[in-house]
Amino acid sequence: MTSPLLKLLAENQWADFQPLMDEIQHWSHWPVFMGALTHLNRDALYDSRVHGLGHIERTMLHGAFCAMYDGLDEGDTALLLDCCAYHDVGRVNDSVDHLHGHRSAQRLAALTGRGGEELNMMMAAVDAHSRPESDLIPTLQGYHPAQWERCLRLAQLLKDADGLDRVRIFDLDVSHLRREESRRREGFAEYLFGRYQRLIGAPLRPPFPEELTRKLEQRQSERNQRRHRQPRFEG
Ligand SMILES: [Fe+2]
Repeated sequence: MTSPLLKLLAENQWADFQPLMDEIQHWSHWPVFMGALTHLNRDALYDSRVHGLGHIERTMLHGAFCAMYDGLDEGDTALLLDCCAYHDVGRVNDSVDHLHGHRSAQRLAALTGRGGEELNMMMAAVDAHSRPESDLIPTLQGYHPAQWERCLRLAQLLKDADGLDRVRIFDLDVSHLRREESRRREGFAEYLFGRYQRLIGAPLRPPFPEELTRKLEQRQSERNQRRHRQPRFEG
């Protein structure tokens, strides 16, 4: 089987997260997710242990949870999953790169066969996903979406789905996630990443480019310092 996630789903053993996985597998749009995962164009993905197939499959599952808890209809669920599938195809390396979303967006028509306003919203969301948070709104506005709230929701849910898989680089700060339901799934994101890595025989920490390693170590130490400044018990 070419998909480790499909293998995990076929095993259907999720320990403490079984109720969560049972819930989503009974969701009315679960077949949309299974179709998207089965037909994912794996050859188009960026070939990398940080932003490659594993990250994309996990982001798609996180995206399915985002769609379920946000109450997306079938069409927008499929749209969000297409965004999750191809948001990183424009990557040229694993480093910080605010423009890879823009490059990915240029390939979405060919990869998904979508057109019109659906394509426009998808391009906006994918373009925005790699830019700083302060650029989210202006980037979306640049695409002049016909349905603003729909486009914004798509972009926010893509960011949450992608963000949850930051556990793989030990750099998930749940306060950056946009939905409370997403923040509650940090433990699941860690568990999913661990299961996935064990299945494919990969280490828990992939070999990062030097620049990324330095950045992560700095962030971790800043987070530790903040934690030590906080009172241990709330009174
Ligand atoms: Fe990503």
